[in-house]
Amino acid sequence: MTQNTHIKIYEVGPRDGLQNEKQIIPTDQKLALIAKLAEAGLKYIEATSFVSPKWVPQMADHNDIMHALRNKDDGVTYAALVPNDKGMTNAVHCGVKEVAVFAAASEGFSRKNINCTIAESIARFEPVLQTAKAEQIAVRGYVSCVAGCPYDGDVPVESVVSVSKQLYKMGCYEISLGDTIGIGRPAQITDIITAVSDYVPLEHIALHCHDTHGRALDNIKAALACGVRVFDSAAGGLGGCPYAEGASGNVATDAVVKMLHESGYETSIDLDKLHAITNFIRNKMNIEQRETCT
Ligand code: HMG
Ligand code: MG
Repeated sequence: MTQNTHIKIYEVGPRDGLQNEKQIIPTDQKLALIAKLAEAGLKYIEATSFVSPKWVPQMADHNDIMHALRNKDDGVTYAALVPNDKGMTNAVHCGVKEVAVFAAASEGFSRKNINCTIAESIARFEPVLQTAKAEQIAVRGYVSCVAGCPYDGDVPVESVVSVSKQLYKMGCYEISLGDTIGIGRPAQITDIITAVSDYVPLEHIALHCHDTHGRALDNIKAALACGVRVFDSAAGGLGGCPYAEGASGNVATDAVVKMLHESGYETSIDLDKLHAITNFIRNKMNIEQRETCT
């Protein structure tokens, strides 16, 4: 079991958070949010997604976002989601250094979210991974609906293992297990991580919690006990997925960081600055938020 007390927080607010807002947030406000997150000490920020603007109009300014970030030399990795070769070509053109592909552990969600089967999605990622290798771009892999699916219900742990294994084998450096609708419970999360870690080393596993039922922090504690040291979260608890009804906000970054610091873990993140970001989101971006720890 790892004794490592340093935790990597993967901030997904500007992407997973803002993709779900009814209003389209102006690009300059998104960039201001991203700058504040970097200033607060977040080292991994998922800034946008190169998906179809017809499917997710909230992310249609992906080129502008990534062009604005491409020459930053601040030690922060600004990542973007890509669903296919077209998105990857665009990401390369914008100078993106890290991308994330996203598959699902359930067929129902795969179909609704990216309009293809799980197997088709994995096949689509092959050229993405090839380009990434040639361009020296790091690739993260998401597996959605690991603890349950809004369309198919229960999701067998074997499906989570199968997709995780394939993404890792293809060359994804980190596998982020997504409880997309926040339905998981600590014992289930422990079982999933234990099963996946037979094929993906623990140090390459991340947990991505949505907090629909208020269990995200307990699930993160269960993952910590398993040895997971990477967690996805969104400033101010922004978020959701437009193709997963019930996917309310991501677990709030400030709540996760507070819990981690109180439990003896380090993050290099400034909690006061995170609280100020929560206020910025509420007062300047006019986004109504769910509960955070402030
Ligand atoms: P499709 O309609 O099957 O694609 O969508 P297509 O290949 O038939 O193309 C249709 C049109 O989209 C064409 O344009 C393409 O050029 C265009 P048209 O000829 O009609 O003008 N197109 C694109 N445009 C821009 N960028 C692209 C792209 N690809 C095709 N990359 C597709 C398939 C995957 C594109 C679509 O389903 C899509 O964009 N889905 C994205 C949905 C999404 O972003 N969901 C939220 C993110 S996932 C998530 O939140 C979960 C996560 O947080 C983890 C968790 O919580 O579990 C990651
Ligand atoms: Mg998500």
